[in-house]
Amino acid sequence: MTTPHSNTLLIGFMASGKSSVGRLLAQRSDRWFIDTDALIATMAGKSISAIFEEEGEGRFRAWEVRLSKWLQDHITGAVIATGGGMPLVCNNLKAIGEVIWLDAPLEVIESRLAQPGESGSRPLADEALQTRYHERRSIYARTAHRQIDASGSVEAVLERLFL
Ligand code: S3P
Repeated sequence: MTTPHSNTLLIGFMASGKSSVGRLLAQRSDRWFIDTDALIATMAGKSISAIFEEEGEGRFRAWEVRLSKWLQDHITGAVIATGGGMPLVCNNLKAIGEVIWLDAPLEVIESRLAQPGESGSRPLADEALQTRYHERRSIYARTAHRQIDASGSVEAVLERLFL
């Protein structure tokens, strides 16, 4: 059961809607909204793309691990939208709160990433996208308490979440 003190984590592939669904879920449930990518970019003082380019993916993953520990130790009453790769390197997500996998079909992901401005800020929206999508499914499945179909509008996804 979700209480005002509990956390909900949204995981899933890039463009599965974690940030937009998360923001609305936070508003509707009167909890704080945390976006891990935004927090890391603020802490690092540069965009996620710049971290990847200048310091490498390993450095970015280290930020994610550090942030996940901080979330576990300090955060209650929040909806947390995670970066798409966080479940690969953070094994404590279930200890932070209820983990929900927003699972969108590959065609939906690809069409969202084709929208102007959507893939430019995502260093891993590259030619390996399809392989990565398939490889990650089992990781998302074992990291999540629940799996929700993330196709359709933000409202539609939110409705499924409350079912
Ligand atoms: C990543 C997804 C991105 C961001 C980074 C790495 C990934 O977040 O954390 O570019 O490994 O899938 P979104 O899922 O919000 O696009």
